[in-house]
Amino acid sequence: MAKNRIQFVCQQCGYATPKWLGKCPECGTWDSFVEEPIVPANSRTFLDTGEKAVPTTISKVTKTKVKRIATHIGEFDRVLGGGIVPGSLILLAGAPGIGKSTIALDVGMKVAGTGEKVLYVSGEESEAQTAMRAERLGEASDNLLIMTATELTGILLQAKNLKPRLLVIDSIQTMYTNRLETAAGSVGQVRECTAELLRFAKETNIAVIIIGHVTKDGNIAGPRLLEHMVDVVLQFEGERSYAFRVLRAIKNRFGSTEESGIFSMEEAGLKEIINPSGLFLDKKENVVPGSAITAVMEGNRPILTEIQALVSRTPFGLPRRTAVGIDFNRINMFLAVLEKRVGMNFGMQDAYVCAVGGIKVSEPAADLAIVAALVSSFRNVALPLGCLCLGEVGLTGEMRPVSAVERRIKEAAKLGFSKFIVPQNSLKKESYDLKGVSQVGTVEEALRIIFKE
Ligand SMILES: Nc1ncnc2c1ncn2[C@@H]1O[C@H](COP(=O)(O)OP(=O)(O)OP(=O)(O)O)[C@@H](O)[C@H]1O
Ligand SMILES: [Mg+2]
Ligand SMILES: [Zn+2]
Repeated sequence: MAKNRIQFVCQQCGYATPKWLGKCPECGTWDSFVEEPIVPANSRTFLDTGEKAVPTTISKVTKTKVKRIATHIGEFDRVLGGGIVPGSLILLAGAPGIGKSTIALDVGMKVAGTGEKVLYVSGEESEAQTAMRAERLGEASDNLLIMTATELTGILLQAKNLKPRLLVIDSIQTMYTNRLETAAGSVGQVRECTAELLRFAKETNIAVIIIGHVTKDGNIAGPRLLEHMVDVVLQFEGERSYAFRVLRAIKNRFGSTEESGIFSMEEAGLKEIINPSGLFLDKKENVVPGSAITAVMEGNRPILTEIQALVSRTPFGLPRRTAVGIDFNRINMFLAVLEKRVGMNFGMQDAYVCAVGGIKVSEPAADLAIVAALVSSFRNVALPLGCLCLGEVGLTGEMRPVSAVERRIKEAAKLGFSKFIVPQNSLKKESYDLKGVSQVGTVEEALRIIFKE
């Protein structure tokens, strides 16, 4: 039975097998298996509070335990659902260089600023580097302690002595425990270290933030495997060449996953953007052909976004279609719909479409704006000033209702918009008489109203 002390583990998805395989049967990755020792099950993920568990009433527990730690970074607190829950394990995942260390250190500094002790452990950067970053972020209180280490048992010993309110581990891929012989960053180490941190957090009631790297496709060993173990998974996203970053809760045992926080990366660290609308609007005085504005939902908040299109005669036989920040296949679909339902011929036209500012537009609510931008460029006629396009476009050219139409309209109205094209059946009865709103049933009808034919 106990002969097989080792196993082969897929570093992509964690699939384990007693024999080496070239291709993972679970996730289909090639050459992803690495030899790892088998950890005895009894020393693994189970919660061990050191004493016999005793049943208790809910009222007793909530009174003593749940008082959230406010980080005083409004956007961060909001995403968490009102601050960090003591004893919770939070995974902060994101692509390399996106700003994970920056925001984690900032949180640490802010919490320390309120008089609570914080321990920030980096396995990637020296104390000097961390101190340098802290300097950029502002005044550091003496309640913030930094340490460079990678051996987890030693770190937890220090943390036990220090008894901070918050422990930050940067990053989980650099940590290792002596109990396993594999290298730091392997699936086994990442899992075991997280399990140990989970035990530590629950035992001591110290909140722990662990940073985890993911690649662009969001799929490497580590974070994905840990999602079920931790209380909260925060994903930090953004295009590296643009300043804005979005913090999202993918999983939250203590709050909604609807909320998201928006930041911009600046010299002095990450700055919250409290009012994100307008961030993705190219501010220009006069309206030019090929531009249409829509409102996409980022969590619960509508963000006004400009869609730009350029349609021009193709110099070669084969027309080119390019999309940035928008699904390429949808562009082809819209061109086909316009051809069939509205009678416009794009057969000899190149078409380029982009969402301004590097935002990714995946919501169908932006469909009408994309279509309007294409038509506007094709006809070389600008949309009227202050016009907001909302609605999903179906294959038959029908306009489909989208969610939160009132909220999107309200946000746009705040910024001076006065003309709103929305799909029929998406407004609540009581908002039928909203000023400047046109409800449309088909794309054709929408275009007629927009371009005043
Ligand atoms: N002086 C500065 N002014 C503005 N932005 C800076 C400055 N120094 C660093 N940055 C930004 O901080 C980013 C790196 O942040 P940070 O180190 O927190 O990211 P990370 O996600 O922890 O990266 P890693 O994957 O390397 O750990 C850089 O990409 C850069 O955009
Ligand atoms: Mg970092
Ligand atoms: Zn796999």
